[in-house]
This record gives sequence, C-alpha cells and structure tokens, in this order.
Amino acid sequence: MTNVSEPELEKLLEVARQVAENSYSPYSEFRVGAALRLTNGETITGTNVENVSYGLTICAERASVVRAVSQFGPKIRIAAVAVANLNGKASPPCGACRQVLAEFIEPGAPVIFPAADGTRTMAFSELLPLGTEMKLK
Ligand code: THU
Repeated sequence: MTNVSEPELEKLLEVARQVAENSYSPYSEFRVGAALRLTNGETITGTNVENVSYGLTICAERASVVRAVSQFGPKIRIAAVAVANLNGKASPPCGACRQVLAEFIEPGAPVIFPAADGTRTMAFSELLPLGTEMKLK
C-alpha cells in the first residue's frame, strides 16, 4: 500500500465520521461520510445525499470525488480513502463508487472502512482488481 501512515488513516477515518453528521439520508437513515486524502496533501469530504426517487441517491464516496475534482481539477490523484457510518454497520464502498474512484486513485492506495468484522483496510486494487487498467487511449 502507498505511504499514508496508520495514524494518518485513523485521522482520515475520524474526519469521515465527522462529515457523516451532514448526511442527507431521510429514506434509509444510513448516515455515511467519506474522506479522501489527495496526493497534494488536501483532504476532501463527502456524504451520501439521498433522493425521493431512490435511484438518484449519491453515495458519500462519489460525492467526495465530485467535490475533489470540482475544487482541484482533473489531475487530482487519490492517495487514501476513509469511509465511516454512524449506524454501526458494515459499509465497504459499493461497486459504483469503486469504479468512480478507479478513475483517480493510486492502485496501492489504502481504503479504510467498516467491515462486518470491524474496521478494515485494503489496498484499492484488492477492492477492484484490474480497476485501473482500462485505457481508452
Ligand atoms: N451509502 C454510501 O453513501 N456509501 C457506502 O459505502 C454504502 C452506502 C449510502 C447510499 C444510501 O444513501 C445509503 O447509504 C444506504 O445504502
């Protein structure tokens, strides 16, 4: 995994927990927060924002990616990801979020998230094998 230390990851997780307080989740009441550490040293957060149509709901992870690109432009690189929820349940990034993260993340970047057996850290490439290998050009 890339060089984001364990204490830094723990801090990132705490930031994700804090931002989960801002979640807009009136339908599921599942409050999720995500925090990205960018290679430029910045930390960017996001929460899930639900919609009455259900299908238009955006997860915390994707919300954070959208914020990061909007703020720092298309060349951002993600060095680490933390996901937290306030419901005490497992919430590894969903498949759609993994695919969106793949666009910007370093394959060895650690992803820390609540798993069924407690907090878990995995390299992104373990979460989405071959995820960063698709190239159109
Ligand atoms: N959710 C996230 O924001 N991230 C995850 O990693 C898991 C799921 C959101 C989507 C929806 O608003 C709610 O949690 C229940 O699935």
